[in-house]
Amino acid sequence: MLSQLLKPIKAVFKSELQKFIHKDFHELVQRMTVIDTFLFLIVHFVDKFGVWHKLPVILGLLYLAIRRHLHQEYNLINVGRIPVGVRSNLVDLPYRTADGKYNDPFNEAVGARGSFFGRNMQIIDQSNKLLSPDPMVVATKLLARRKLIDTGKQFNMIAASWIQFMIHDWIDHLEDTKQVELVAPREVASECPLKSFKFFKTKQVPTGFFQNKTGSINVRTPWWDGSVLYGSNAETLGKVRTYKDGKLKIADDGLLLHDNDGVAISGDVRNSWAGVSTLQALFIKEHNAVCDALKKEDLDLEDEDLYRHAKLVTSAVIAKVHTIDWTVELLKTDTLLAGMRGNWYGLLGKKFKDTFGHVGGAILGGLVGLKQPDNHGVPYSLTEEFTSVYRMHPLLPDDFHRRDVSVEPDHNKSPPLIETVPMGNMIGLKGEQASKEMGFRALLVSMGHQSSGALELWNYPVWLRDLIAHDMDGKDRPDHVDLAALEIYRDRERKIARYNDFRRGLFLIPISKWEDLTDDKEAIEVLRDVYDDDVEKLDILVGLMAEKKIKGFAISETAFVIFLLMASRRLEADKFFTSHFNEETYTKKGLEWVNSTESLKDVIERHEPEISKKWMNSSSAFSVWDSPPNTPNPIPIYLRLPH
Ligand code: HEM
Repeated sequence: MLSQLLKPIKAVFKSELQKFIHKDFHELVQRMTVIDTFLFLIVHFVDKFGVWHKLPVILGLLYLAIRRHLHQEYNLINVGRIPVGVRSNLVDLPYRTADGKYNDPFNEAVGARGSFFGRNMQIIDQSNKLLSPDPMVVATKLLARRKLIDTGKQFNMIAASWIQFMIHDWIDHLEDTKQVELVAPREVASECPLKSFKFFKTKQVPTGFFQNKTGSINVRTPWWDGSVLYGSNAETLGKVRTYKDGKLKIADDGLLLHDNDGVAISGDVRNSWAGVSTLQALFIKEHNAVCDALKKEDLDLEDEDLYRHAKLVTSAVIAKVHTIDWTVELLKTDTLLAGMRGNWYGLLGKKFKDTFGHVGGAILGGLVGLKQPDNHGVPYSLTEEFTSVYRMHPLLPDDFHRRDVSVEPDHNKSPPLIETVPMGNMIGLKGEQASKEMGFRALLVSMGHQSSGALELWNYPVWLRDLIAHDMDGKDRPDHVDLAALEIYRDRERKIARYNDFRRGLFLIPISKWEDLTDDKEAIEVLRDVYDDDVEKLDILVGLMAEKKIKGFAISETAFVIFLLMASRRLEADKFFTSHFNEETYTKKGLEWVNSTESLKDVIERHEPEISKKWMNSSSAFSVWDSPPNTPNPIPIYLRLPH
């Protein structure tokens, strides 16, 4: 009754408000509750001035918390029917299964291998615009690297490998058996390494829904469960386990073992390279060290128990390193340092949490250790838009810089450069051979001292435009692909909104002219030419690369908003990071292990203490290792002002 009475008042209130709101969001506000409308207004007002990242840390955090809340309400879309009512008995399954089943207490299939990719916004069907403008033209004129642009000292090759290591934990699209061919139009053909190429379509599977009639399937488990080490199914898991004391297989030289065809024995071997296999080897050592430590505590633990506990602990260490180390280097501002630590430890901080445990909700106590997982009413999955913003191939350089670790390092702990190896020789089977020759230590130290490429226009590695892609089993495919052009096609094929609609979908003010996107005059000229001077046609990938970056951010703000939502969700929706993040599930020793590991540097020091002592000058293993360590800042983090 009361709500009926309030209805006209609300309508008048909202129509008055529209004067202050960008016209593209009027319809959205009509759908929002009064409280959310108010919260949206705060965010929208700050966005109009483009200043959230310049606010004092505490206000910046407030802005991000409001934004995250709005996206949790309006940007989580379930795709595909999941059988409901299959309630799993958690008491019987206090471990991560091989295929990701039985994590969600209400639905065993959520987050399993073979589940649907979700969505963060409405689909935009582009079936009549798949070639408009031509992907090979976009790749040639706007993406292809002219001269390497790097990230300076901010982000190194371990950081670039790390995010691929994570992608191979989270997502991979199932392909169809039907192929498509792209042919280079005459205007760019002479500049395209491949004049034409064939690839498999993304498989479309009926969802049983009225709106999103079809969807695509994730062949990796989207949980943060170390699929890159353990695989996403029982068969792969069987290949990587030793079945003795819970351990995983690793070669005597501390690198991955290989099968008779030279393919690495690891959880995921598709489209990999030496950088990713070095990280796989490091975390296999971590897993095996956890097994040893647990066995020492309790001699009665059997192979299966040790394996299950070590998988939980190692996956949590990976998630923690990603949250409070990798992301902090990627988004290098005080606000994000506070925000990412807040996700793990809460605003009350590590000391408080170590002493009193998880107190308060997600904001005060952090997402990890929440009493219950929270999926915000939508079954957990990673999304199509998440895939799009992680298309970060420009992080890869042209050559791998091999360093000499047999001699004393130079100033700032920098080892001499002895060879530049084309990246093409560091991928797939060739890459595995090259890494055997170089050894674990030289690989890690070399990556530590080399900057990654930057996520900018004209910085897409040209060697990826003539690439031998892999099947799921790591075997070479007969058809080479132009990955830059393929990525443009993929986003359109998967009905991902183009850049401006993508921003609207995230309540970010759309661009109305090219100058809103970039200050680069030449870029504006080429964008005008390629997209017929229509900003609405701009592809999401190109927009993400062209966008002016926030100071300290290695990625665009548009991509960051998807991170803000999905990085929290990976922790918050998972019972092993929330209700089951306890001694009972992880063991006392296992939980201590996670709680006392703060960074990748800690993991490296555990297995190769020499490495960081001798070659790492930087504070984080993800920034270039000869850079100076962070200087302590006496001002408490929440009181800081951005510089
Ligand atoms: C040597 C290194 C790499 C190689 C050879 C490689 C190769 C590939 C190939 C062949 C695909 C499939 C393309 C398709 O059919 O749609 C792909 C997809 C992808 N790659 Fe890479 N990649 C590398 C590094 C990276 C890095 C550093 C990132 C950074 C995040 C990355 C992120 C992705 C993403 C997000 C996808 C889409 C996955 C999906 O469709 O589900 N890759 N890559």
